[in-house]
Amino acid sequence: MKINVLKNYKELSSTVADIVEEQITKHPLTKLGLPTGSTPFGMYDELVNKKLDWKSVITFNLDVYLMNITRPQSYQSYMRKNLFDRTNIYPDNSHFPFRPFSAFEDKIKGSKGIDLCILGIGSNGHIAFNEPGSSFKSRTRVVNLDEQTIIDNARFFDSLDDVPTQAITMGLGTIMESKKIVLIANGVKKKSILNQAMLGIITEDVPASILQNHKNVKIYYCD
Ligand code: GLP
Repeated sequence: MKINVLKNYKELSSTVADIVEEQITKHPLTKLGLPTGSTPFGMYDELVNKKLDWKSVITFNLDVYLMNITRPQSYQSYMRKNLFDRTNIYPDNSHFPFRPFSAFEDKIKGSKGIDLCILGIGSNGHIAFNEPGSSFKSRTRVVNLDEQTIIDNARFFDSLDDVPTQAITMGLGTIMESKKIVLIANGVKKKSILNQAMLGIITEDVPASILQNHKNVKIYYCD
């Protein structure tokens, strides 16, 4: 699997924003799978600056913490701040994983599936919140977060104890049904897990390695 190495974070952000722009421009009724974390900040900024028409776009976020969603650290707040409040997307068209999970999965299927899913990667190889050991067949569900993930994400919270220990995530099976997938990774600390996931053996111990089985996936990395 090819890892496309880009010059810097600006180029990473604009490359993936251009891919999203092309998708939305060619197919205004696009369904997007959207990530959170620090890596997509630049992509969202670039997308907002493009002033695209989001009125027919439907979005499905990959995951949410199990926490009070009105707090600034929730992924619902993150998405409002970084994208939704800065575009003309209809609030009713932006979805986060919800209970019952079968209804969330039906919502994706009912909209004819995700056309383009953007992913980040955790330092332990997770995608969305599918931690190592997640079944390749997994669907949307509640998960316990790995200690490493809690430590990594503590920078967004007041303290380590403040980080939620559980989340709801789309499953690996759910994500793999996306028609196109783009994974972005930023920084040398992601280099070795990215190489392991994309060039190593396909194993549930490295959840992102399942992407090697997808027919239309692009990987972008910068130091
Ligand atoms: C969180 C998210 C993932 C994301 C990961 C990487 O754990 N649930 O979807 O890929 O963070 O985050 P960052 O981009 O901050 O390294």
